[in-house]
Amino acid sequence: MPASPAGPAAEIAAGLCAPQARIAPKFFYDAEGSALFERITELPEYYLTRTERAILEAHGAEIGRLVGPGATVIEPGAGNCRKARALCARIAPACFVAIDISADFLHAAVAGLRATLPALDVRVLVADLGAEFSLPPDLPAGPRLSFYPGSSIGNFDPAPALALLRRLHALSGPDGALLIGVDLVKDEAVLEAAYDDAAGVTAAFNLNALRHLNRLAGTDFEPAGWRHRARFNRAQSRIEMHLEAADDTLVSWPGGRRRFRRGERIHTENSYKYRADAFAGLLDRAGFRTSTWWTDPAQWFAVFLART
Ligand code: AVI
Repeated sequence: MPASPAGPAAEIAAGLCAPQARIAPKFFYDAEGSALFERITELPEYYLTRTERAILEAHGAEIGRLVGPGATVIEPGAGNCRKARALCARIAPACFVAIDISADFLHAAVAGLRATLPALDVRVLVADLGAEFSLPPDLPAGPRLSFYPGSSIGNFDPAPALALLRRLHALSGPDGALLIGVDLVKDEAVLEAAYDDAAGVTAAFNLNALRHLNRLAGTDFEPAGWRHRARFNRAQSRIEMHLEAADDTLVSWPGGRRRFRRGERIHTENSYKYRADAFAGLLDRAGFRTSTWWTDPAQWFAVFLART
């Protein structure tokens, strides 16, 4: 169901008025933001996407054996289905359920998937993982494999991350499994470069949120007056992205305004980086049994297979 017009505007205003001003990361993803994110995944500094892909390529056959034949792969936030396409080509499941809140994007992506893997039974579910939804009732009887790649779990604070893993546990059903990609703690310089690349694509992605807010909430942000900041907070084990006011500035919107001092920041995103043992502990608390995990030679990224 589309959000009411008052919904995003009210949420945006509340975030801007908070003592530590914030913009929720979901506001990165208008059409321009989604295109910028695609470019981020191809940047030399942004090792996450290619490292996860290499792990899945190297261990695809083993994952297929462990999951077993006749599985149904379920991917919440399937987006362009590119990762699912590579996984399904490797593990040959009976069925794939693509779940996303963006119906248009999902239908186009699924058409591409059907063309490449014509034997795969592909289902589409337009839903938000944060809300109640039901899987199609006529799924094949085989095991279910939930697929949550890309270290998207890293964009959730610890309590919501645990809640999300519990939902993924429920989605995977009895004798099911979860295949999830997780970015690992590493050298600060590597982490900070991944979120502040030399070409400035991540900066453009962060600043684009201001344009999106101008359209959604009628704010009068002038993006040129803001600077992209990304730093690793070791105590919290997370990259924090902010937008910093280059000068004293007043931001107004219908029904409100806020003055920002030069150097004052708006918090836009957290991206948590895990130690493998800590993430296994989180899976355990969500009710999973971690059977296996794989990493790359530098141990920068991990893919966990956890059973329900
Ligand atoms: C979507 N998510 C996993 C990305 C990340 O790495 O946390 C979002 C991102 N933000 C800046 N660069 C990429």
